[in-house]
Amino acid sequence: MTSKRPRRIILTGASRGLGLEFTRSWLAAGHHVFALARSASTSDGLAKLAADHGDALHRLDMTVADEQSVVRTCEQIGETWDAADLLLNNAGIYKHKGDTLADLDLDDCLESIKVNTLGPIRMARALRPLLRKGNQPRIINMTSLMGSLADNSSGGSWGYRMSKTALNMASRNMAHELASDGIIAVVIHPGWVRTDMGGVGAPLTIEEAVASMTRAMDNFTIAQAGGFYDRNGAPLPW
Ligand SMILES: NC(=O)c1ccc[n+]([C@@H]2O[C@H](COP(=O)([O-])OP(=O)(O)OC[C@H]3O[C@@H](n4cnc5c(N)ncnc54)[C@H](OP(=O)(O)O)[C@@H]3O)[C@@H](O)[C@H]2O)c1
Repeated sequence: MTSKRPRRIILTGASRGLGLEFTRSWLAAGHHVFALARSASTSDGLAKLAADHGDALHRLDMTVADEQSVVRTCEQIGETWDAADLLLNNAGIYKHKGDTLADLDLDDCLESIKVNTLGPIRMARALRPLLRKGNQPRIINMTSLMGSLADNSSGGSWGYRMSKTALNMASRNMAHELASDGIIAVVIHPGWVRTDMGGVGAPLTIEEAVASMTRAMDNFTIAQAGGFYDRNGAPLPW
C-alpha cells in the first residue's frame, strides 16, 4: 500500500497469539483497530493495548462461528466507521482429538469448518459494504500450509486440513467476486509459529511472523488477488 494515512483495520482472533501481535504492531504504527475475539473484553493483552492507545483500539466479543454474532458485531463497527481498509480473518481452531479414519471426531471436523472456513466468509459478507468504501481495501485470510493438497505428504489433522483447504477455495471465490469492488482477497500462511496453537517447539516467534506478514500484506496488488502466499508474500502450492 502506498498511502501512509492511518488505516482502519478489523481483525478476528485478536485476543492472543498472532492476532494480538498484529493489533500491537498496527496500533504502534498509528492505525485504528477493531479487535474481535470470543474473549476480546477479558484479554489481558488487549486490555494493556487499550490502556496505551485509547480510542484507536475497539474491542468486541464475538464468535465467528455464529451468524448473528458476526452480523451484530459488524453493525456495531458500522456505527463507528463508515469504511474499512483491511479485514484480517485470523481466528482459527485446531482440534487434536482423534486423528485417524477410525477414530476421527466428525463433530470436531464440522466445528473446524464452522470457525476456520465459514467464519471468514461470514466476516467478508458482513463487512463488504465498509470495505468497498475503504482505501486500497483487502481481505487477508489466514490459512495454513496444512491446507495445501500438494504439500500433504503425511496425512492426519483431518478437520484442520480440510477447513483450511476449503478456506483457500473460498478465498479464491472472494477474490473473483470482490474484484469489482476493488477488494483484494488472498490467503496467507504464517509459518510454524510459537503460539498457543503452534506450541513451544515452533521455530518462529510471533514477532518474526507478524513483521514479515505485515510487509507482505501491504504489498499485495490486485494482480495477486486469489493467491496463496507464505509470510514473505511468495506463492505456495495449492
Ligand atoms: N501458530 C501457527 O503455527 C500457525 C500455523 C499456520 C496457520 N496458523 C493460523 O493462524 C491463525 C492464528 O493462529 P494462532 O497461532 O495465533 O492461534 P491461537 O494462539 O490459538 O489464537 C487463536 C485466536 O483465534 C480466536 N478464536 C478462536 N475461535 C474463535 C471463534 N469461534 N470466534 C472468534 N475468535 C476465535 C482466539 O480467541 P478467543 O479464544 O478469545 O476467541 C484467539 O485469539 C489461525 O487461523 C491459525 O490456523 C497458525
